[in-house]
Amino acid sequence: MSQGLVTMSHIAASILFILSLSGLSNQTTARRGNYYGMLGMAIAIIATVMSDAVTSYTILIIALLIGGALGAKAALKVEMTQMPELVALMHSLVGMAAVLVGYANFMDHTSTLSGAEKTIHEVEIYIGILIGAITFSGSVIAFGKLCGRVSGKPILIQGRHWFNLVLLVAVIWLGSLFLAGTETGDGTVPLMLMTIIALIFGVHMVMAIGGADMPVVVSMLNSYSGWAAAATGFMLSNDLLIVTGALVGSSGAILSYIMCRAMNRNFISVIAGGFGSTSGGEATEVEGEVQSINTNETVQMLRDAKNIMIIPGYGMAVAQAQHTVYEITKLLRSQNKNVRFGIHPVAGRMPGHMNVLLAEAKVPYDIVHEMDEINDDFPDVDVSIVIGANDIVNPSALEDPNSPIAGMPVLECWKGHSTIVLKRSMASGYAGVGNPLFIHENTRMLFGDASDCLQTILKKLQN
Ligand code: TAP
Repeated sequence: MSQGLVTMSHIAASILFILSLSGLSNQTTARRGNYYGMLGMAIAIIATVMSDAVTSYTILIIALLIGGALGAKAALKVEMTQMPELVALMHSLVGMAAVLVGYANFMDHTSTLSGAEKTIHEVEIYIGILIGAITFSGSVIAFGKLCGRVSGKPILIQGRHWFNLVLLVAVIWLGSLFLAGTETGDGTVPLMLMTIIALIFGVHMVMAIGGADMPVVVSMLNSYSGWAAAATGFMLSNDLLIVTGALVGSSGAILSYIMCRAMNRNFISVIAGGFGSTSGGEATEVEGEVQSINTNETVQMLRDAKNIMIIPGYGMAVAQAQHTVYEITKLLRSQNKNVRFGIHPVAGRMPGHMNVLLAEAKVPYDIVHEMDEINDDFPDVDVSIVIGANDIVNPSALEDPNSPIAGMPVLECWKGHSTIVLKRSMASGYAGVGNPLFIHENTRMLFGDASDCLQTILKKLQN
């Protein structure tokens, strides 16, 4: 393929990626956005395969087959609830790729670069490996935390800020040794030491972040993986990779900012660690009488209500109850009841998790509301049904300054006339904190699997 055609393909793919991102920003255009992304990626892969840089098709085809088969297997097998873990794992692969490409570039002695160009290339290698190694180890720990193999509790070492500062100074110092060393052929040791430091920093950074702040980590690592890809693009002089990496990096950074705002967190404080652990005393224990109800009583409450708010959380994803929820919604709406959905920005385990589930069940977008849009409406709500949600409806976020989730805005359903909480037990949610909503005088607990309970409710409502 001629260079002109490759450049044209890169421009076309970049435009499609930008259209994809803009499509993904809205539920009604999200599907189209995905198609643009797929088309852009197909063009990018074909242009890369056909470019003059490829000298051995055998190795390339073997790599494509292995990578494609593993990717397809993972995508087919993964449950919707495991999606965040898969995404974290994918981020770690981007980081690993940046490290490997960096080392391959460093060891490639066929380069004819000299002077300032050579120095710039070496800086690219150093920064690329730095970002890649942080992304890799940070994502592996995030994967562990998301699937419960690593504790969600923040692990805080004493003097962690000093520790971070020492690591930063060491990275800068090793960088200068690396640049000086490449002239004399002694760059390997500083580069390897920096890689080890970056790996330690990635682990330390994510370990220090409390469970409740994981949404910020997920979006932050998303951003890092973009910058790692952009750094790889610089090393390989691949414009498309630079553009794509920058798009992912900047959109991830914007998402991190949105997540921080949604959780009322300061971005710097979150990544410096220790948030989600609280600085003050012990969080208040939740003690009191729980009022449980059965499905018959739930059905009666729904029949009597005019204004109903459905609040889905992670448990709805686990139970895959979204289709039954929508059947119930249709039925209640056909009885002229005002049924709406209230979505918390960090509900579930990944950004937009609930919106994806509800869209899959074909719930109309105009009855799905963001928290900010509907939080003031709760005093007029007759019944709120909380389906497998916990942290996002926890009043202690607003009332208990010692709570690990203190300051996080939540859906204030307890301000409505009554709330039904559907979950299996009194177990805490992802942040591991007790929830006073469960013992609130207006709250009724409906214990059981969300899917089973909702199917029973649907059948009883139909009769
Ligand atoms: P959680 O606080 O995790 O609560 C989910 C609840 O669902 C659990 O208490 C569980 O109680 C219940 N549940 C689980 N399986 C169920 C089933 N089959 N049927 C009925 N109930 C079931 O979820 P949330 O309220 O959505 O809050 C999200 C949390 O995840 C926040 O702390 C957030 O910071 C964190 N997080 C979010 C993200 C993103 S980006 N959204 C990423 C990482 C972490 P039982 O066991 O008693 O049933």
